[in-house]
This record gives sequence, structure tokens and C-alpha cells, in this order.
Amino acid sequence: MSNSSPYSSEQFVNDEADNEISRLEEQARVRWPQEVLVLRNAGLKAGNSIVDIGCGPGIITEYLAKEVDESGLVVGIEKNEMLYSLATTRTATYNQVQIRNYDACDLIEVNDNSFDFAYVRFVLQHLPDPNKLLIEAHRILKPGGKLIVMDVDDSLFHITPYHQELAQFLSEVSKGQDNYGGDRYIGHKIPCMMFDAGFTQIHTSVYTFTSKNISPQEFLDITTKFKIDLLDPALKDWGNDVLNEIYRKSQDGAFFGTAGVYCVIGEKEM
Ligand SMILES: C[S@@+](CC[C@H](N)C(=O)[O-])C[C@H]1O[C@@H](n2cnc3c(N)ncnc32)[C@H](O)[C@@H]1O
Repeated sequence: MSNSSPYSSEQFVNDEADNEISRLEEQARVRWPQEVLVLRNAGLKAGNSIVDIGCGPGIITEYLAKEVDESGLVVGIEKNEMLYSLATTRTATYNQVQIRNYDACDLIEVNDNSFDFAYVRFVLQHLPDPNKLLIEAHRILKPGGKLIVMDVDDSLFHITPYHQELAQFLSEVSKGQDNYGGDRYIGHKIPCMMFDAGFTQIHTSVYTFTSKNISPQEFLDITTKFKIDLLDPALKDWGNDVLNEIYRKSQDGAFFGTAGVYCVIGEKEM
């Protein structure tokens, strides 16, 4: 298996990209009503500047543009060239948005003390060294600026009725992401990592969503289907069998799934 992230430009192509972008759109649609309240409670308002680090195809960047309005500024940072170009196209009509093709772990072209807020959404899980990104986020925030990180922790993923092979499936997926240099259990580690990067006033919350908020199929599409791509190629047939069985069980009225996202907010000292 390759050591590069599934988001590296040489791997993330064609159908795989279309599927992942649809998943991100669906995930953003489901999660945004809750997330925007978190951002507003943290103080985000019209006229603020926010950097969307690892902005992907710019779905959230566009939502943020509406929040800060034309008097604000959103800078989306994306390493993958194809996603950078999609984000540029998606946000082209917003004067308050700029998209940059940078590696978020090395933001040498971004000045110190530049932004009121930084948002890092489902990015740290993909990085071999997430500390580097957090140190850069701290550097480019203004004193008093806030970093908001959202990310997964697969220990918060559960389905009922119990499925015997789910634990092994999640374990193999986790090994796959480890091979890419990522971590599917990063959520609970983020508060400590932010403290080490220099942030203060760290607040941690866990947000859950369930197969009752959305349909069981949508729940599995957002949380589970893409995990097949993280498995060792030799395990893909087995993984597909496990997944098909879980989808089949999800049509039973007794099915219930829950997934959780860590949200950690920290401040750069004045
Ligand atoms: C799961 S996607 C999330 C995209 C977006 N934040 C969202 O929530 O819709 C992770 C994104 O992080 C980007 N990424 C990963 N490593 C990066 C790095 N070192 N610098 C910048 N972007 C990176 C990937 O290319 C991808 O677009």
C-alpha cells in the first residue's frame, strides 16, 4: 500500500473523486446547521477573517463566505491541485473568498497574526504530523484569534444490532489510514495537541449524529462506505461483504447507528 494520503493528487482521481465530493457535500449538508451555531457561539460574525485550512472542494468555504459576508474575508487553503481548482471555481462569485494552493503544514507565504479565526475540518485525521498544521494555525492567527477543529474518532461509531465483524472492519480501516500516515482515532487527542501547539482556553465538545436524524442509508453513506478505500487491497472483497451485510441490516426497522465528531476550540493568547 502507498504511503501517501488518499487525497494526494496522483490517487484521488475520476470516479473516486466524484464519489468523495458527493460524500463531502452530503456530510456538510447534514452537519452545517449544528456547526454554524458552534462557529457563531465562538464569536464568528460578518466582517471577520477566517482561514479554512484543508478546504477541499470549497463546500464549507462557501458556507463561511455567507457567514462573514462581503465585509469579511475567507481564505481557503488546499494542497491537492484538483480540489484547489474545484474550490476556486465553486467560490468564484464571492469577492470575499481567496483560495490558495498551499501545504497547510508549511504556510510560509501567509503572514503571522493574519486571521480572526481558523477552521480545520476533517483534515488532521489525514496528516502524518498534525502538530505542524496546528503550529502554523497558531502562528497565522491574530492574538485573541480562535482555532476551531472538527474531526472524527471512530471509537464513537456504533451500530445496533451488534455486528460481529464491525470491530475487525474498523480495525483494518484504521490500519489502512495509519499506513497513509493518518489517524481515525484522532478526535480525543486533539485537545492535548492544541495545548502543545500553544493554544489556551481549550474547550472540547463531542457532537453526535444518528441514523434517526437522517436515513440509515445516508448515515452509512457518510460514515462507512468510503472506508473500503482505506482497506488493504487484499481485504477489499471481505470488506465489501461486511459492508453489504451492514447495509442489508440497516433496512431492518431495529437498526440504529451513531457517529461522533470532536469539536475543539482554542485561543491564541493576547
Ligand atoms: C476530508 S477532506 C475535508 C475537506 C473540507 N475541510 C470539508 O470538511 O469539506 C480533507 C482535506 O484536507 C486536505 N489536505 C490534506 N492534507 C493537507 C495539507 N497538508 N495541506 C492542505 N490541505 C490538506 C485534503 O486534500 C482534503 O481536501
